[in-house]
Amino acid sequence: MQKRVFSGVQPSGALTLGNYLGAIKNFTRLQHETNCFFCVVDLHALTVPQDPAALRENIKNTARLFVACGLDPQVSTIFVQSHVSAHAEMSWLLECQAYIGELRRMTQFKDKSTRHENVTAGLLTYPVLMAADILLYDADLVPVGEDQKQHLELTRDIAIRVNNRFGEKVFTVPEPYTPPRSAGGRIMSLLEPEKKMSKSDENPKSYIALLDPPEVIVKKFKSAVTDSGNEVRYDEENKPGVSNLMVIYSLCSGESLETIANRYSGAGYGKFKQDLGELVAETLRPIQEKVKELSAPGVIEEILDSGAGKAAAVAGAKLRFFQEKLGVR
Ligand code: AMP
Ligand code: TRP
Repeated sequence: MQKRVFSGVQPSGALTLGNYLGAIKNFTRLQHETNCFFCVVDLHALTVPQDPAALRENIKNTARLFVACGLDPQVSTIFVQSHVSAHAEMSWLLECQAYIGELRRMTQFKDKSTRHENVTAGLLTYPVLMAADILLYDADLVPVGEDQKQHLELTRDIAIRVNNRFGEKVFTVPEPYTPPRSAGGRIMSLLEPEKKMSKSDENPKSYIALLDPPEVIVKKFKSAVTDSGNEVRYDEENKPGVSNLMVIYSLCSGESLETIANRYSGAGYGKFKQDLGELVAETLRPIQEKVKELSAPGVIEEILDSGAGKAAAVAGAKLRFFQEKLGVR
């Protein structure tokens, strides 16, 4: 049987180059070898306050970007989490299998709960909803960036716990699929290279949004933090800023880090950053054009309706199966 892949992206703002290089670009490769489900996880976005009108737009824009980045709705199932009610239902069933202690230990929870004044229960149970997403589809493989590995580990723990409890394979135990840092697993902020590039960063100069106009992209790379030297060399530890820029260059051009280091040896950071800005703008140009086409009325809605139908058939069957196991059906 073909392997199943599941992944999700939150519609919590403009998607970044980190989302693209760390996650979405890999999805496009996997879709031809595996049976893929790609989800706009809008319920996850609700764990922190969202403006309703902006969220509604962001959901559609995230889906448009999926397709514009190369996910083919004829090949992969592309849908919105809240359109398939099995996700919320399964999440409750799994909350009754998860322990508060293990949820409290999640780095992302610890981090976000100190940043927000009112910590919602959703912020704590967030990884259980993510487990529901994955286990509903019996996913074998989950492509995610480095920051999600701990959540995936928890999904595995829950699946194994349930399987042990029932003495049979109720859920497929999923494997993470995370590129190493040098291949995009963690694209860093352009201003603070010790932090990941994130769309929720207050300073938009720290990230490249996939829909940033070319001149903005070039400008942002010009002001990217490097270090006091002037040598274009990959060294994660001592030159995190330059190393991050080299990874971006390598993933956009398809060239090795070594080739890039050789090309810019002695050229200094200025030329390197200028070329990189132009390269990224060129890489994103066809994606931005495709998003425009997909913005015609009804186009993305039709793709998402059809995706929700396909997803609901798979997820509904799995939900019923687990309900029967638990005795609530
Ligand atoms: P999110 O935007 O948090 O929903 O993340 C969607 C996907 O993009 C997840 O697989 C993340 O791990 C991945 N991702 C987000 N930011 C980065 C980044 N800076 N570098 C690499 N992957 C990322
Ligand atoms: N938690 C993930 C993130 O913030 C998004 C997500 C939700 C996800 N459900 C998922 C990723 C299932 C992979 C599989 O990036």
